[in-house]
Amino acid sequence: MQTPTALVTGGAQRIGRAISLALHQAGYAVGVHYHRSAAAAEALVAECNQRRPDSAQAVQADLGTIRGCHELTRQALQWPMHVLVNNAAVFRPTPMADISTADWDAILALNLRAPLELARGMAGALQGGSIINITDIYAHRPLQGHLLYCISQAGLTMCTQVLALELAPGVRVNAVAPGAILPPAGDTDRAQAIRQSIPLGGMGTPEDVAGAVLYLVRDAGYLSGQTLILDGGRLLPVPP
Ligand SMILES: NC(=O)c1ccc[n+]([C@@H]2O[C@H](COP(=O)([O-])OP(=O)(O)OC[C@H]3O[C@@H](n4cnc5c(N)ncnc54)[C@H](OP(=O)(O)O)[C@@H]3O)[C@@H](O)[C@H]2O)c1
Repeated sequence: MQTPTALVTGGAQRIGRAISLALHQAGYAVGVHYHRSAAAAEALVAECNQRRPDSAQAVQADLGTIRGCHELTRQALQWPMHVLVNNAAVFRPTPMADISTADWDAILALNLRAPLELARGMAGALQGGSIINITDIYAHRPLQGHLLYCISQAGLTMCTQVLALELAPGVRVNAVAPGAILPPAGDTDRAQAIRQSIPLGGMGTPEDVAGAVLYLVRDAGYLSGQTLILDGGRLLPVPP
């Protein structure tokens, strides 16, 4: 790929897919990283290449391992990298009494260590470009029963700030913290309760997240170290 390239981790489906498509539509070549969604990644890449030849490539890696992070970095460094979007993450409950070392390793490795490892590996190539970390409002408000997910997202928020200092002035580093966008399947009662707690009256869409990413990448040249909270007003303090 020759044009400035954006790499989106977990970029084949759900929110990551919307981000990949938005960046492609904005003129970037896209590296669509996937772990297990090979068919979705290949379909998305085919769709993009049909619109503009040689403008998308799929790349597989398990970002829960250091080796996977290094393999993805090695591939990305073959492209003219301009944007890294750290979107891949795992969201699952970890009630405090049941937390195991394996839970700690799996969640922190993918949600926190991988974004840092990719940023470190690609920083030199991203000069003049930017890194976007997709975090969560649960970096800013605790979610009971999800301790490891919450601390991974809080860690990534601070990682965004420290990297913004360390990589300035060459690379801007920002985050988008979505609220409810695509709830896990099955929990309709909780999804309904969440909807009712959102001042703007409903959940956001993957395209809302993609729009925020595009803003940070393309239109926010004097912004670094910031987190855009994209939650329909859900975190606004409500008077008693
Ligand atoms: N969904 C929401 O409402 C919501 C709300 C707030 C924040 N967020 C944040 O937004 C981002 C996207 O959310 P989502 O719900 O669309 O995410 P998701 O579908 O749960 O996961 C995103 C991607 O992570 C990848 N992934 C999982 N394990 C991996 C591994 N070991 N190595 C590499 N990649 C791996 C998966 O790739 P494959 O499919 O290829 O396996 C998946 O497509 C996440 O960072 C999440 O924390 C989401």
